[in-house]
Formats: sequence, structure tokens, C-alpha cells
Amino acid sequence: MSAPAAPLVIAIDGPAAAGKGTLARRLAAHLGLPYLDTGLLYRAVGRRVLDAGGDPADAAVATAAALALPPADMDRADLRTPEAALAASAVAAVPGVRAALLEFQRSFGRTRGAVLDGRDIGTVVFPEAQVKFFVTASAEARAKRRWLELQAAGTPLPLAQVEAETRRRDEQDAARATAPMKPAPDAVLLDTTALDAEAAFAAAIAQLRARLAAIPGAAP
Ligand code: DC
Repeated sequence: MSAPAAPLVIAIDGPAAAGKGTLARRLAAHLGLPYLDTGLLYRAVGRRVLDAGGDPADAAVATAAALALPPADMDRADLRTPEAALAASAVAAVPGVRAALLEFQRSFGRTRGAVLDGRDIGTVVFPEAQVKFFVTASAEARAKRRWLELQAAGTPLPLAQVEAETRRRDEQDAARATAPMKPAPDAVLLDTTALDAEAAFAAAIAQLRARLAAIPGAAP
């Protein structure tokens, strides 16, 4: 008798505004899987530190905030601001913060399977994920998307500022010593520079089918 197939976990990593969240949400809905935006965890920790007047790069302060994070903080309405994004990137470089958030992410996907998006899902959180995507796009295309999102949200910023902050965050996320942003060796690279959400989803579904077809008993 063959061993029961493990629940399907799909890891989606990549830099800011590459289209990870949109793709992850669509894949989760299509496959009937739970979805976790892991960036929200780091944003919520960063926000807590800012609220208390602390420095998000202070390891002791950031780790204490991560260990005491109330789950309801994930639903705060102020996690999508550029300020929260930079604070998230700073706390995310602290090893104690990453350790404090790891088990929550793993247990989220372990029982029923899940789609998770972030920076280290395929490398650290779920290295055993059956399907991994590393979603990228040119820095210009990503900054333009974030700029449009901010405009639509009624909080416009100059494009040059959005581009500078996006680059700064990506450099920080890729350069940190613990769980840096990088593609897992077995990740499918998906460049969305010239793709809209529909085309990115279609490309991902084709790759997903090919990957699952190669795993006995895993095809949905
Ligand atoms: O995906 P996002 O832009 O909401 O993430 C905010 C920050 O959190 C990002 O700059 C880096 C950090 N992050 C991380 O280090 N690891 C993750 N799995 C998710 C986010």
C-alpha cells in the first residue's frame, strides 16, 4: 500500500509587488485551499513596534513584539502602508522574529494544505512544498504597480519615491543573513513583467499541472 499523499502546499515567493498575492489568492480559490499572506505577519510585528515608538531594527524589541503578537493584528487596516512595509522588512531581518513566526506558518499549511506567499516559503517554511513559484518582474514594473495601488487606495506618492522604497526593501530582504529572499532550487520562475493577472494565473496553472503530474497521487 502506498503512503497517503501529503496535503498540497504551494509556496509563492518573490520581491515586492511582483504579483505574488494576486496569484496566490487565485490559486487558493481555484484549488479550494486556505491562503496565508505571510507578509502580513511581519507587517503586524513592524506596526506594533512603530506604535510603541520603537525601532523595528532593534532585535530585542522586535522579537518581543513577534512573541506577543495577537492573531487579530493580522486584520489591522493599517498594514498596507509604505511605512508598515519598511518596518516589516526591518523586523524580518531579525532571527528571533523569524523563529517566533515560523511555527504558525507551518501549522497553517500542515493539516489541510495551503497556498502561502512570502520570501522564504519554498526555502525555509515549507522546503517540502510540492509546488514552488518564484514570481518576479522588473523593478520598474513593480514600482509602477505599487504606485497605482497607492493611488487607487487614495494615498498617492511620487513614483520615484515608491521605486526607491521598493528597491531598498528588496535589497534588504535579499541581503539579510537569516532566510534571505531567494528562489528555492526547485522553484518555477515566473516573470510577470509582461503578464497581466489572468496571464500569470494561466501560466502558473500550466506549471502546476505539469509538476503535479510528476508526483504520484498528487494531481488535484
Ligand atoms: O509580502 P509583503 O510585501 O507584505 O512583505 C513585507 C515584508 O515582510 C517584506 O519586505 C519582507 C518580509 N517578509 C519576509 O521576510 N518573509 C516572508 N515570508 C514574508 C514577508
